[in-house]
Amino acid sequence: MSNNEKIAFLDLVTPHKELEQELTSVFQKVISTAGFVGGPMVENFENEFAAYCDAKYCVGVASGTDAVRFALTAAGVKPGDVVVTVAHTFIATTEAISQAGARPDFVDIDEKTYAMDPKKLAQYFEQECYVDRETGKPFNRKLRAPVTAIVPVHIYGQCADMDAILEIAGRYKLIVVEDACQAHGAEYFSKKHNRWMKAGSMSHAGAFSFYPGKNLGACGEAGAITTNDEAMMRSMKMQRDHGQAKKYYHDIEGYNGRLDSLQAGLLSVKLRHLAKWTRERQAAAVEYGRLLAGVPGVVAPHQPENSRHVYHLYVIRVADREGLQKHLAAAKIDTGIHYPIPLHLQKAYESFGYKKGDFPVTEKVAVEILSLPMFPQLQPAQQARVVQNVQEFASVGSLR
Ligand SMILES: Cc1ncc(COP(=O)(O)O)c(C=O)c1O
Repeated sequence: MSNNEKIAFLDLVTPHKELEQELTSVFQKVISTAGFVGGPMVENFENEFAAYCDAKYCVGVASGTDAVRFALTAAGVKPGDVVVTVAHTFIATTEAISQAGARPDFVDIDEKTYAMDPKKLAQYFEQECYVDRETGKPFNRKLRAPVTAIVPVHIYGQCADMDAILEIAGRYKLIVVEDACQAHGAEYFSKKHNRWMKAGSMSHAGAFSFYPGKNLGACGEAGAITTNDEAMMRSMKMQRDHGQAKKYYHDIEGYNGRLDSLQAGLLSVKLRHLAKWTRERQAAAVEYGRLLAGVPGVVAPHQPENSRHVYHLYVIRVADREGLQKHLAAAKIDTGIHYPIPLHLQKAYESFGYKKGDFPVTEKVAVEILSLPMFPQLQPAQQARVVQNVQEFASVGSLR
């Protein structure tokens, strides 16, 4: 590889070229049957993805955002409730909470894993809420509303500390919906269950996005919800299909939130390759870790012993993030920032009245993170060039 070739942040063309025949044959099948909505392709994918996630049921939906929203509503979140999540996530997490009629509220993240900090979550209930005697559930004093659910986000492809979060949820009788939109196949060793558990199988439901750049991506928009709860599965199926369980018999007002057959068929093809792609991402992460070990001023991703990260993103932290990003861009190396502005400081949530300093770890991390190129086909030579350029920047002392 020449030293001047561009290194993309993500290569979506190569895997589609490799699978072109299989993917095209799905398209031909859909055209020849004109089965565009519902039908066996959707059901097959749902069964396959449920099995992949060690969940009893899977409900295919139109996006990850719909997945979070339908799961919250199906689990019993009502308009006016408060749902606790993190500000270090993509805005879809809180959009979905708002769309379910609830008010998002935040707790800070863990500085090593960047996921919800269970200690901060416990403090939230102890300090900002009192327990309602009638319901046994927490009531937020300032927001004057009941807190009914928690949405931990398995950020970058690594599960949040679910044992601790579920223990707190159990104490306060709360719903938990995992935002697993970035974490297809990620695993967490639960001490409580004494086994490895898959993202999306540990709580009331798990929400997945199949946006094209995700570890399992559609050729368009798509999402899914996993659950072990039959009643929730039925409710989510109704919500995605205009509130009907039987054609033109509408028990509730729902949405147009279905997974279409073409995307389901394409996802079935790609799902067969997901385990291999995940292994390739994990190998690339090991290689980055090895190469970065000698570079001063770089914080590499932290993987606790109880976690099997699937590296949707490979995110490092440095003091001069902007400087490093510019240096890499000049060497034709693409990078990303996930995410530059924490949600509590976004204009969209100005009216909520959060201020700088409310979530110090989230705010610190947001100015230091940089996502390096990461995808299954990334070559060791490309990684060596990325890290060589990081090293160059570090050697002039710019990272400390
Ligand atoms: C953490 C997180 N939550 C939710 C979503 C929403 O998924 P979608 O874009 O499929 O609606 C995404 C994907 O972008 C995400 O990364």
